[in-house]
Amino acid sequence: MKLVPFLDHSCLTVALSGRLDSGTAPMLRAVLDEPPSGVTELVLDFDGLTYVSSAGLRILLSAQKKMSDCGGRLRIRNVCRDIVDIFETTGFDRLLAFEKKRRQLSVEGLERIGRGANGECYKVDEETVLKLYYEYIDEACVAREKDLARKAFLAGVPTAISFDVVACGNRKGVLYELLKAETLARYIEKNVHRLEEVTDMYVGLCRRLHSIEASRETFPDAVELACGYIDACDVFNDAQRAAVRDLLLRAERKNTLIHWDLHPGNIMMQGDEPCLIDMGDVAIGTPFFDLGQIKQVLYYYARMGLCHRIIGLNDEIAPRVWQLFIGKYLGHPAPDEFAALDGKINFFRAVKNVFLYLSGSGGEAMRSRRRDFIFEMLPPEIAALK
Ligand SMILES: Nc1ncnc2c1ncn2[C@@H]1O[C@H](COP(=O)(O)OP(=O)(O)O)[C@@H](O)[C@H]1O
Ligand SMILES: [Mg+2]
Repeated sequence: MKLVPFLDHSCLTVALSGRLDSGTAPMLRAVLDEPPSGVTELVLDFDGLTYVSSAGLRILLSAQKKMSDCGGRLRIRNVCRDIVDIFETTGFDRLLAFEKKRRQLSVEGLERIGRGANGECYKVDEETVLKLYYEYIDEACVAREKDLARKAFLAGVPTAISFDVVACGNRKGVLYELLKAETLARYIEKNVHRLEEVTDMYVGLCRRLHSIEASRETFPDAVELACGYIDACDVFNDAQRAAVRDLLLRAERKNTLIHWDLHPGNIMMQGDEPCLIDMGDVAIGTPFFDLGQIKQVLYYYARMGLCHRIIGLNDEIAPRVWQLFIGKYLGHPAPDEFAALDGKINFFRAVKNVFLYLSGSGGEAMRSRRRDFIFEMLPPEIAALK
């Protein structure tokens, strides 16, 4: 085994190659037993490592314990398939924080076929698209989106097959089935003369998703996620935070799926067949989570002149789609009933904006706008709480 340590401030990286077994484990132990003082992060780069024995596993565990005892952490990077198998069979995959070694891809010469809030999409070949995330989006987040897409597909949601997480320089990506399709946003623009009919398709897809029952063991619960965001959000005082949480917990609980970013830029039309993409926020919860975000995009972003820029749908057409959509989705309720439901939609819009505010989506300028949105959309008695 070869071992190359590299110290950068408080982070000690040790690159390993060869085999980590009873013969070579003492070498690693010698380095880990006496790390330079002030090291709070230990990274073991397994790029060149092909095997780990039980003696090697014991050292990894003791290194992890040592780091956590001193308030630091151990991360293991670039773990090859064979070693992942060893981690999984021994149960060490649940004890150690590690990242798998990813296939490296280059986008040089590839056609860019789309761009969204999280990165760009490239055509790899006739069957495959690479969704390449911005560098600041970490691997766990990328892997989660891939995983949710797979689970949703298995649950019966029409969506692209997700293949594998790959690396592209410092960025991570996911390979998806290439849908021979255009976005619903584009499809609406082209078929604006039959907006009623196209909106029916949109409503149909949303209803279909919202009728798929799923388990909380498989998908996250939107209310739990949202409570976490509300707790972490600094725009509220304590009384407002408690009231928002309370309202959320009193809203109906559903065991059906939501997409949570269900705008026409995340729906692909294969001919007349709609299919969902961008599955990173899929969860279980009331459809009002989705309705809130759809209104945000089609109605409010359009009013701000941002709908076309963000999802590729004309800013004059989008609010017309919203009016038609919501009437149809809710089954054309009487005006007073509609007003009550619209209040509920606005509340869920506020909740989504709490999440978007925290994630920094849209940059600094948008961040302060989101703060205003949140208070405009909350029931006035909650916004007024001191
Ligand atoms: N599986 C796919 N097949 C074809 N085009 C896709 C696929 N996935 C994404 N795209 C294109 O890339 C764009 C951005 O993808 P999306 O997953 O929505 O990214 P973001 O999370 O950045 O919004 C889409 O609007 C679409 O045009
Ligand atoms: Mg998208």
